[in-house]
Amino acid sequence: MSEKESKTKNRKIPQHIAIIMDGNGRWAKARHLPRMAGHRAGTENLRRIIRACTEFGVKYLTVYAFSTENWKRPKDEIDGLMQILSDVIDRELVKLHEEGVQMRHIGQMEGLPPALQEKIKSAVEKTRNNDRLILIIAWNYGSRNEIVHAFQKILLKEAPNPEEITEELVSKYLFTEGIPDPDLVIRTSGEMRTSNFLLWQSVYSEWYFTPILWPDFDREALQKAIIAYGKRERRFGGRFKQQKKEIYAD
Ligand code: IPE
Ligand code: IPE
Ligand code: MG
Repeated sequence: MSEKESKTKNRKIPQHIAIIMDGNGRWAKARHLPRMAGHRAGTENLRRIIRACTEFGVKYLTVYAFSTENWKRPKDEIDGLMQILSDVIDRELVKLHEEGVQMRHIGQMEGLPPALQEKIKSAVEKTRNNDRLILIIAWNYGSRNEIVHAFQKILLKEAPNPEEITEELVSKYLFTEGIPDPDLVIRTSGEMRTSNFLLWQSVYSEWYFTPILWPDFDREALQKAIIAYGKRERRFGGRFKQQKKEIYAD
């Protein structure tokens, strides 16, 4: 395959997919099951989607699993969700590590149960040299919180003059430091809003909304989203033909 062809091919696979995994509660309700059964089914599905991403050659997968606003939910649901993340790390980490998956966390650590904080940190540490797939768990994550947090750190560490505050500097202090912006953001369950997810990073992402509830969003559904992405024209504010010339210039 010529270099030109391979570039064309790679352009069709998003390097970074971010997913707002929504609809677990409705999935459970439709089956007359408790909400936790929906969250567990959602977790099972994540395992399948991680594998599909490695198969399709996606390099970064970010999943929105617990938002800074999800603290508004009843305590038993919150406790159950924290327990699920803890169990997933216990149960899946060794296998994910063997498969070359690197785990990262974005979101605020403070406020999480201390034992869970330790578990997340050690999972991140254990897998830090893996590079087959970077799995980024957004847990206790909110974009506004992230941006405020970034400014606090910038002021503390850099004490910059106003003109020294640049987009690069802000990006450097976000939880996503070093991670390329998502190419494709998927939200399941029919809702069409960001719910405070990756506001800074997704300005030029392609958004894809599907009515499928997260536990039912399978490999085929992901493939369909990737195909739809491949048909989009990304212009980044420029003009497509001109851009194309730059990308495909010999
Ligand atoms: C998404 O499913 C998971 C989390 C937000 C933790 P929901 O729990 O929001 O499910 P619905 O939206 O009520 O169906
Ligand atoms: C967004 O879903 C957050 C996650 C999927 C973790 P929500 O269900 O919390 O969002 P809203 O409340 O419908 O906007
Ligand atoms: Mg929801």
